[in-house]
Amino acid sequence: MSDKNHLTKPYNNILVSEVENKGALMTGLIQLNRPDVLNALNIDLMIEVVEALESFDKDPEIGCMVLTGNKKAFAAGADIKEMAEAGAIEMLLRDQFARWDRIRKIKKPVIAAVSGFALGGGCELAMSCDMIVASESARFGQPEINLGVTPGAGGTQRLTKAIGKARAMEMILTGKMMGAAEMFEAGLVTKVVDTDLYLDEALELSREICTKPTVAVQIAKESILKSFDLTIESGLEFERKNFYLLFATEDKSEGMKAFVEKRKAQWKGK
Ligand code: CAA
Repeated sequence: MSDKNHLTKPYNNILVSEVENKGALMTGLIQLNRPDVLNALNIDLMIEVVEALESFDKDPEIGCMVLTGNKKAFAAGADIKEMAEAGAIEMLLRDQFARWDRIRKIKKPVIAAVSGFALGGGCELAMSCDMIVASESARFGQPEINLGVTPGAGGTQRLTKAIGKARAMEMILTGKMMGAAEMFEAGLVTKVVDTDLYLDEALELSREICTKPTVAVQIAKESILKSFDLTIESGLEFERKNFYLLFATEDKSEGMKAFVEKRKAQWKGK
């Protein structure tokens, strides 16, 4: 029996469910649910998101996660009302964005399904995921400059790595919003689809990943993310060791045997 904390916990700011993928592992679905404030990311909501992701990550019946908002907003940023009166030392002691580092430790892939506003912390949360499926009406931005601050949950780093210095500078220094098509061309977004279909598309992408051998999926994610931290030489070495490690899995034996025997592989997830 797997641990289903994500289904039994009484969440107040998110909706959590499992989506069946016929004959494959399931998708863990998390929907941000503060629609009155465009899913502003207050501390309680982020505690719940991180807990739900970690719980899905531990559940052997789940192969991939999808994180979404609603058509109008993925999330319009960190909750400004929660920070408006805070001073530097209070923010330092609160260290609320440190919790976001735990998202980086999630082993299974996480797909952001984004429609409407993905601003400030909302854009940063989408970028903390592994892929972004966007609706045509998605709007990405880092408007913190208009509040007298800068991005604080990864925006200056992840946006720059995703779309390059020139465009990241423009977005962060002007605070202006960019459309989904432009962000697709810039390399931030995996695919852009009709606004009525963005969640279905993200779930379909997740379903496809859920049909793949689990350990190889997690190792591939780990190797790709390492490329952000390492030199090319260290990165190639890391990749190679991970590649060799996969030769210890039953799925490697099965995958190669199935190819030779011209049949479909039956994955065991180990
Ligand atoms: N925090 C708290 N409340 C927010 C919010 C936020 N980030 N974004 C929107 N809301 C609230 C509004 O206050 C409003 O609430 P009330 O009805 O109680 O007044 C409600 O959501 C609807 O918002 P609007 O009436 O403003 O909706 P709009 O359609 O006219 O405008 C918008 C939409 C352009 C997104 C506008 O809401 C906006 O500019 N929001 C703030 C965006 C922003 O600056 N985000 C960065 C936050 S700082 C951050 O994220 C730091 C970091 O790096 C982590």
